[in-house]
Amino acid sequence: MAEKFYITTPIYYPSDKLHIGHTYCTVAADAMARYKRLTGCDVMFLTGTDEHGQKIENKAKEAGVTPKEFLDRIVEGDRGVLDLWKLMNISNDRFIRTTDKYHMESVQKIFRKMYEKGDIYKGSYKGKYCTPCESFWTDSQLVDGKCPDCGREVQEAEEEAYFFRLSKYADRVQHLLEDTDFLQPRSRVNEMVNNFIKPGLEDLCVSRTSFSWGIPVDFDPGHVVYVWVDALSNYITALGYLNDQYHDYDKYWPADVHFVGKEIVRFHSIIWPAMLMSMELPLPKHVYGHGWLVMDGGKMSKSKGNVVDPYILAEKFGVDALRFFLLRTFPFGTDGNFSNELLIHTINLDLANDLGNLVSRTTAMVEKYFGGQLPAQRQATEQDAELLNMVQDLRRRYQEEMEKFQFQNALEEIFKVIARANKYIDENMPWALAKEEDKKIRLATVMYNLLETIRVCTVLLLPFIPESCAKIFQRIGADADVQTWESAGRWGSLPAQAAVVKGEAIFPRIDAEKALEELNALQAAQKKAALPAVEVEPLAAETVDFDTFCKSDFRAVKIKACEAVKKSTKLLKFTLDDGTGTDRIILSGIHEYYEPEQLVGKTAVAIVNLPPRKMMGVESCGMLLSAVHKEHGEEKLHLMLVDDAIPAGAKLC
Ligand code: MSP
Repeated sequence: MAEKFYITTPIYYPSDKLHIGHTYCTVAADAMARYKRLTGCDVMFLTGTDEHGQKIENKAKEAGVTPKEFLDRIVEGDRGVLDLWKLMNISNDRFIRTTDKYHMESVQKIFRKMYEKGDIYKGSYKGKYCTPCESFWTDSQLVDGKCPDCGREVQEAEEEAYFFRLSKYADRVQHLLEDTDFLQPRSRVNEMVNNFIKPGLEDLCVSRTSFSWGIPVDFDPGHVVYVWVDALSNYITALGYLNDQYHDYDKYWPADVHFVGKEIVRFHSIIWPAMLMSMELPLPKHVYGHGWLVMDGGKMSKSKGNVVDPYILAEKFGVDALRFFLLRTFPFGTDGNFSNELLIHTINLDLANDLGNLVSRTTAMVEKYFGGQLPAQRQATEQDAELLNMVQDLRRRYQEEMEKFQFQNALEEIFKVIARANKYIDENMPWALAKEEDKKIRLATVMYNLLETIRVCTVLLLPFIPESCAKIFQRIGADADVQTWESAGRWGSLPAQAAVVKGEAIFPRIDAEKALEELNALQAAQKKAALPAVEVEPLAAETVDFDTFCKSDFRAVKIKACEAVKKSTKLLKFTLDDGTGTDRIILSGIHEYYEPEQLVGKTAVAIVNLPPRKMMGVESCGMLLSAVHKEHGEEKLHLMLVDDAIPAGAKLC
């Protein structure tokens, strides 16, 4: 029977559109799932969305819709979570939404089970709560009084609540972390033990009464289950644990690995095992805490305006190029600094130059010298040994890295072989062999070795760039039976007379300068669009007394003439009729919003008793009033124009 492999990603909060950081983990899990399927495993790959909690409730309220309507739009709507995973070619076997009925019912049973065991009890909660992170913190965990995860303000919270006896499991969890390879990479263990377990694990508040968007505790319906207890349970409810929706729990549990971002390792390596211990269920074999994709050293977040949209990148460079970049460039366990430059550089270097060229050169030569079909005879020499040895050992070296989730290293092994193969072309100079009639067989051998090298590399690249691999197989005439894991370990699997075709470049080279310019413009436009449509300054907190206010003399004024002030890009000079019979001159810095001729003849409002002020050598006597606000982050200004029926000099009060 095939070996089982169960892998999960975190389930995502659909409070905003997902960005490239979210895509990173899902692409990694997808590569792992595809790799395991390739090796013949029976794989269950789960992802989904985490849909309860105050954050979602608040967001829906802001949007003026019900939480479910809000969620459906972000999960199932245009360019929602499901669309994104389809675009990224994610091969998940199952997708769970925590608002699915079966999940909610199972979570109620899970909660009850821990309650009946005596591991959940009723008490009263006093502490700090970070709404955006849905996390409770004790005072000692706060950093400068703020949430240690996101650095935002936390709120005081006190309410009747249920608690989970996390403290009871502290020793067992510590042993799990320190004495087994449960939590990976190993570097994450100390942080968990020193920051959370050694200071003393406190019991965890696992219910809330201050909002309702959650799973009700069925035996005390005023309470909803803490969102992390709800969310973590997805890994078993999605298999059918305590429900009839699915029937795979016995088959796939315990999970082989949960991939999670580093900030949620705490939940997965302390709370989740303790919950499972309480339920007396087997523990997952591994939790892998990967690093973040950061931008200029900081985590991507919508509020910082530095999120990168995977749609833009995939549409511009192709899904495979993006998938490849994410796993080739950054070690999975540590943070990686994302930049558009790096993305383009990686695509050009590895895909266009190294792999793309190898395929183009090889297939073009087989077509040119042999009409696309090699003869059956071959003539190996000493010169082939190094390449052949590398290729024959490649699957083993690759497997070693993949089993440790070291995608970057696995790809590095493949690209070392690709570089060696390109060098092999230069060493053997097929174009020179082609000129000598008696070197035909040697030429065929060189070409076959190259095709075989490409084939083996392509099989191993399948988990990363599946669509491109299909194209390469077609070029080198590799049928399904030589696209297998088994055949990647067997040199000489490609039939000698496979039909080879030249075709277009699989990874066209990107004009870096042009692409960067376009990308920056697209991203800037998107960033702008993400800012609030209209923003106005908050009202002044300070009051002004009535007598002081009355001293300001506001008058309707007719604009008789208006011209730009020489040498100034901003100033307009207004000649105004203020009803006194003498022209009043006012300078106003609004040239970027108006052309002078637009304003002549209009009636505006001026404050006329400000002391005169000289600007660019012209004396300005007063100030014209304008209305200001921001639109998508950009300053906007409207000169206050009033009804032309108002005579010049009319006092505004
Ligand atoms: N809902 C919880 C997970 C519950 S799992 C039982 C959650 N959701 S999340 O949408 O906020 O984040 C999901 C995952 O995306 C996390 O693992 C998080 O680390 C990851 N990432 C979010 N931004 C990221 C980067 N910039 N880089 C890499 N991964 C990051 O947490």
